Amino acid sequence: MVSPFILVNLKTYKEGMGSNAHRIAAAAETVARESGAVIGIAPAFTELHPMSHHYAIPVFAQHIDAITPGAHTGHILPEAVRSAGARGTLINHSERRLTLADIGACVEAARRLHLESVVCTNNDATSAAAAALKPDYVAIEPPELIGSGVSVSKADPGIIERSVNAVRAVNPDVKVLTGAGIQSGECVRIAVDLGTCGVLLASSVVKAENPEAVLRDLVSLI
Ligand code: G3P
Repeated sequence: MVSPFILVNLKTYKEGMGSNAHRIAAAAETVARESGAVIGIAPAFTELHPMSHHYAIPVFAQHIDAITPGAHTGHILPEAVRSAGARGTLINHSERRLTLADIGACVEAARRLHLESVVCTNNDATSAAAAALKPDYVAIEPPELIGSGVSVSKADPGIIERSVNAVRAVNPDVKVLTGAGIQSGECVRIAVDLGTCGVLLASSVVKAENPEAVLRDLVSLI
């Protein structure tokens, strides 16, 4: 199996802030080095700079706003994310939904700044629409399974398969990630066997007593 991309979203969990973010990033760096898997993290905006500079792992923003430098108080400037060291950004996460027009503008901004774009979607129709915007990745995450502890790989493999087919039909260059309830090497294996190139996950790692042990399990079947 080709090494999957494992992207850990720290969301706004207190278990993913400050020293906890450092603990998870250090574990990701160790497990990635030992396994050959690519393990990235998407920390809070305030942690983008320290995470990017202290750890040799890909760091992603959780969101960007499609704005250019100027007077936009309270917005997330894509250039700022880039200069903080981010490799890429999530766009349209289920907890930070955007209009289709805004998703398109964010993908464009990411492309202009050489940030990898991961557009999150909730079903195969939105996966197809997202693929038409030519992001680097589409991440299919059924909202009802997010944070549920029930893995999409096991509970709804059909949605993964349909999204992979929908994305391939529109643009075969767009890679697909699977998310929601991912928690083990078996979940990763099923996701990859169904044609995706990795997983987007959060709670199973961020809220774990031992995040490194969960990361080791996630890469155990690659
Ligand atoms: O961005 C990842 C996410 O929404 C899935 O969350 O906690 O189900 O792994 P979780």
